Amino acid sequence: MKKVKVGIIGCGNISGIYLKNCTQLFDILEVKAVADLKMDRVRKAAEEYDIPKACSVEELLADPEIEIVLNLTIPIAHAQVCLAALEAGKNVHVEKPLAITREDGKKLLETAKSRGLLVGAAPDTFMGGGIQTCKKLIEDGWIGKPAASTAFMACHGHESWHPDPEFYYKKGGGPMFDMGPYYLTALVNLMGPVKSVTGSTRITFPERVITSKPKYGSVIDVETPTHIAGVMNFENGAIGTIITSFDVWGAQLPRIEIYGTEGSLSVPDPNGFGGPVYVLRKDKNEWMQIPVTHGYTDNSRGIGVADMAYALRTGRKHRSNGELAYHVLEIMHGFHDASNDMKHYMLESTCEIPDALPMNLLTGTLDK
Ligand SMILES: NC(=O)c1ccc[n+]([C@@H]2O[C@H](COP(=O)([O-])OP(=O)(O)OC[C@H]3O[C@@H](n4cnc5c(N)ncnc54)[C@H](O)[C@@H]3O)[C@@H](O)[C@H]2O)c1
Repeated sequence: MKKVKVGIIGCGNISGIYLKNCTQLFDILEVKAVADLKMDRVRKAAEEYDIPKACSVEELLADPEIEIVLNLTIPIAHAQVCLAALEAGKNVHVEKPLAITREDGKKLLETAKSRGLLVGAAPDTFMGGGIQTCKKLIEDGWIGKPAASTAFMACHGHESWHPDPEFYYKKGGGPMFDMGPYYLTALVNLMGPVKSVTGSTRITFPERVITSKPKYGSVIDVETPTHIAGVMNFENGAIGTIITSFDVWGAQLPRIEIYGTEGSLSVPDPNGFGGPVYVLRKDKNEWMQIPVTHGYTDNSRGIGVADMAYALRTGRKHRSNGELAYHVLEIMHGFHDASNDMKHYMLESTCEIPDALPMNLLTGTLDK
């Protein structure tokens, strides 16, 4: 299959793993150019991963060979960079969240549709072996009909390790917009789309002191809720609960559990690609570890970009697509709106459940 040329915009903290996988793991991808506002980062990335072109954003977008733009900028820039890419005739795959506002998210989908282009968004972790195994277990009936789920992401934020942690506490940040996409995308993939949500939010610590380098000692004014408790009513009738928090010093909670009519499923960390996966069935009152059935159990970030490349070449659907990302974006806003308005929020959007990945794929490929 003819390779798909990719241009990467944003050479910060997360770019390393994408650069590695897009240049070394996925056969269908060829990284042609890298860009960033900071040229020192661009040059370093190009040199380290042997990428032919280290250039400005404008130059990257003007390159007629580039078919997919991978947008790894910070959330506040996601929509603007995606829109520029679409207007330059490029398909675009963006880190999460798709956009900060629902309006921007919708605009991206509409622009792509009107131009016959694809939009995709992280997370693509649900395409990893861990969650694909869970999907197979549910589809094969191991826990019966899913009736409920829980999800917990509790930590104390990112100012102790991230060199530029401000964006995590500004509009479009907070634990729901930062980590929620992993949990919600995994849940939608396993349980289907959501009909309505409600929630409560708060800011426990209005100021955050950075303890990472190089900004050690700087104070961040927190502008977004840092503890969100949400309830989801899935279209299939199941009820999900979720807590995402940057306000918790320690917790001993599971990541995601799904409770079915015949048993329970313990889903691995949706911010990773592997296991472990456990099942408890009603007739056998103990947890059994289930061997992971699918590939891509190591950090395979970029698998969604490769999946988009296959979609471009074959005309099939891609899994981490804009409709799924927009549905997740709307769910996240729904929790915040419901808390502000003290009511349930009815989702306007829905999405298709992405197809399962085939088993026994050759490393570096996604289709048989
Ligand atoms: N750091 C992580 O562990 C992590 C994990 C998963 C996802 N993400 C997501 O990845 C994205 C990037 O996060 P990061 O941690 O790499 O941030 P970062 O601040 O380390 O890097 C972002 C880069 O984008 C560049 N940039 C910003 N605006 C730009 C613009 N308009 N045009 C061109 N370049 C621009 C910055 O100069 C910077 O180099 C975010 O959306 C984040 O949610 C991060």
